[in-house]
Amino acid sequence: MAMISPSILSADFANLQRDIQDIEKNGSDWVHVDVMDGIFVPNISIGIPVVKAIRPVTKLPLDVHLMIDRPIRYVEEFVKAGADLLTIHIEADQPQNTLAALDRIHELGCKAGIVLKPKTPAEAAIPYLEKCDIILVMTVEPGFGGQKFMEDMMPKVRQLREWMDDINPDCYIEVDGGVDANTCAICKESGANVLVAGSAYFKAENRAAFVRTIQK
Ligand code: DX5
Ligand code: ZN
Repeated sequence: MAMISPSILSADFANLQRDIQDIEKNGSDWVHVDVMDGIFVPNISIGIPVVKAIRPVTKLPLDVHLMIDRPIRYVEEFVKAGADLLTIHIEADQPQNTLAALDRIHELGCKAGIVLKPKTPAEAAIPYLEKCDIILVMTVEPGFGGQKFMEDMMPKVRQLREWMDDINPDCYIEVDGGVDANTCAICKESGANVLVAGSAYFKAENRAAFVRTIQK
């Protein structure tokens, strides 16, 4: 059993409202919103005004993944724009700022979590675990949709799930990158309970059936 958070990075940006309502209609759990600044990752996507604009078009929680340098500068604006869960990369700032950003997100009444790039080991997450409602493990290098799933990230997922079972069993373990109808199985076996899918969701011939495959 898992939840699905389709990534609008692969949506038709000229028809974002339609595509987000389609995500909801097809039985998805969350909407994954990829924010990129062209500095932390070599791509620029969407930002605060878009989060604000899409907030009223769906009842689903907005799962906002910040791929931006020094995210503490912007967490308040993203929460105010309508994020329900806000995840920040631990590689994007000094530890004291990451800890302060997680506290700030919580103070604003939003769920908070960290993200680990593929080369970042599970141990690097240890200082933050007690402040996490969600931990996102990247299974591609962040920046682009449509890349190949990195199965060698699964031991990291297992390790984080194990630690969080002791610290906060309600913490979500989310996987992002290259998730499809095949790779979803090993993610779930490894303990992930929220799966992001961008290109596989939007390319699926039957999106509602794809959603059910990820969820079961
Ligand atoms: C990549 C993003 C992902 C992306 C996933 O940096 O964080 O959320 O949309 O796309 P797929 O599912 O196509 O790998
Ligand atoms: Zn993402």
